[in-house]
Amino acid sequence: MSVRRLAAEQPEGFAFTPENLEWAKAQIEKYPEGRQASAVLPLLWRAQEQMGGWLPEPALRYVSDMLAMAYIRVYEIATFYTMFNLAPVGRYYVQVCGTTPCWLMGADGIKDTCRKLIGEPGHVTGDGLFSWTEVECLGACVNAPMAQINKDYYEDLTPGSMKRILKELKAGRHVEPGPQDGRQASAPSGGPIALTDPEIYRNEEQGDATAAKPPLGKGRKPRPR
Ligand code: FES
Repeated sequence: MSVRRLAAEQPEGFAFTPENLEWAKAQIEKYPEGRQASAVLPLLWRAQEQMGGWLPEPALRYVSDMLAMAYIRVYEIATFYTMFNLAPVGRYYVQVCGTTPCWLMGADGIKDTCRKLIGEPGHVTGDGLFSWTEVECLGACVNAPMAQINKDYYEDLTPGSMKRILKELKAGRHVEPGPQDGRQASAPSGGPIALTDPEIYRNEEQGDATAAKPPLGKGRKPRPR
């Protein structure tokens, strides 16, 4: 993991909004007396959300004070977990997976597209809309290559579909998350390829509930209810 440092420019201070403060207190109360530090991850995460996607240094101090933790311990946590951003990010924060399955399926092309349209990793575009970074496996390898934009996964990407997504978001339009090549979730591209012979489901048609079921959408009609 590369060295992670706090941003050079920091705000004067940080405090939870009244709603977030109330929420934070409720989190802390979930833990037994003396174990309030266990709430550090959710509190840091909420602070990051309140700041539009990054954790300034005053927020680390604020959370450590709330939890009566040594500041260095909160600093260690914030710098260890890469889900915490230590510098401002764009309104659309793009995390491109570069781990082996995505790399084999063309992640380099996705990264090149981000580099061209957004800039180097960590750079926030002048309009504040975009920034991007490379991350490790996001657990959607079956739909490689993929990227997470804010909380959504965009999968089965190509440089062309990545470019389209960024253009649409820039124009303020919604882009449906999920596979970008028409594929249904993580089903085989082009449709089912196994157990497709309707003959093997004949017993089921005749009422044998133990018979194997064919893949959805191929050779099997929904039972009338
Ligand atoms: S390797 Fe990219 S999601 Fe797993």
